[in-house]
Amino acid sequence: MERRTLGRAEPALPVVGLGTWQRLEAAARAAGHVELVHHALDAGIRVFDSSPMYGRAEQLLAAALGDRRGDAFVATKVWTSSPAEGRHQLERVVEWFGGHVDLMQIHNLVAWREHLPLLEAARDDGRVALIGATHYLPGAFDDLVRIMSTGRIHAIQVPYNPRETDVEGRVLPLAAELGLGVLVMRPFGEGALLRRPPSSAELQPLAPFGVTTWAQALLKWCLSDPRCHVAIPATASTDRLDENAAAGAPPWFGPDERRLVSRLAGAA
Ligand SMILES: NC(=O)c1ccc[n+]([C@@H]2O[C@H](COP(=O)([O-])OP(=O)(O)OC[C@H]3O[C@@H](n4cnc5c(N)ncnc54)[C@H](OP(=O)(O)O)[C@@H]3O)[C@@H](O)[C@H]2O)c1
Repeated sequence: MERRTLGRAEPALPVVGLGTWQRLEAAARAAGHVELVHHALDAGIRVFDSSPMYGRAEQLLAAALGDRRGDAFVATKVWTSSPAEGRHQLERVVEWFGGHVDLMQIHNLVAWREHLPLLEAARDDGRVALIGATHYLPGAFDDLVRIMSTGRIHAIQVPYNPRETDVEGRVLPLAAELGLGVLVMRPFGEGALLRRPPSSAELQPLAPFGVTTWAQALLKWCLSDPRCHVAIPATASTDRLDENAAAGAPPWFGPDERRLVSRLAGAA
């Protein structure tokens, strides 16, 4: 199946990006956020996901990108029930990121009907390239399907890993039908899936796919679904960045390898 694109400023897809929830601030506490972001760019990571919900992450990311802003695809969010605060969040983040944001998402679908016109106006005047919507709870997927069906967004961000497969029901099929970009949040279940990794002997069948670690197996598991485009694991470690980035290249898993990973994750 043909891979859909995320439009202007798109990276070659599918790819591994970098989530910034909690971990960019953690890197900053050790004065390592600039190194982390530059290391990510040097490792070929282009997509950075943030939100006003993530403390100072947006500002830290913008400052760390500095004059390499043009190398990055910045995905961030509005997160507020107030239209006035939404406007404020949009205006300040556009300024932080040098006049434009590549993907502006509505975080957890909060007040999405109110924010859509604001984001559409920003798209029309070039401050925002693409519009998206995110949610992490299956209980919100009815509403997610509703906003997807408006035809007014270009991308969604959803949880997808072998133990969280609810999006396979309606969300991913509809995304593929509508040609929406899909960003995968929580590919490691916030780290829970990495606590008891399988042995290297168990991972051996995945070696021909360039997979040497359990984290890579999980990333390749979601990126091998042709309906998914970007996985955004978060890490504060440059070594793990390299490990994660390496999973964003072919060859992709087939059904047998995906089944094996699900089984090793205790999900099948
Ligand atoms: N819109 C939403 O509702 C929503 C909700 C949740 C998340 N998100 C987005 O999705 C991103 C990712 O989700 P997440 O941060 O919740 O969880 P995640 O990416 O599934 O897991 C992150 C955890 O995995 C660890 N880790 C990363 N790479 C590793 C590796 N190679 N080996 C071992 N451990 C590794 C990290 O710790 P270290 O730093 O120690 O490596 C961190 O504790 C977020 O940062 C955010 O951008 C969005």
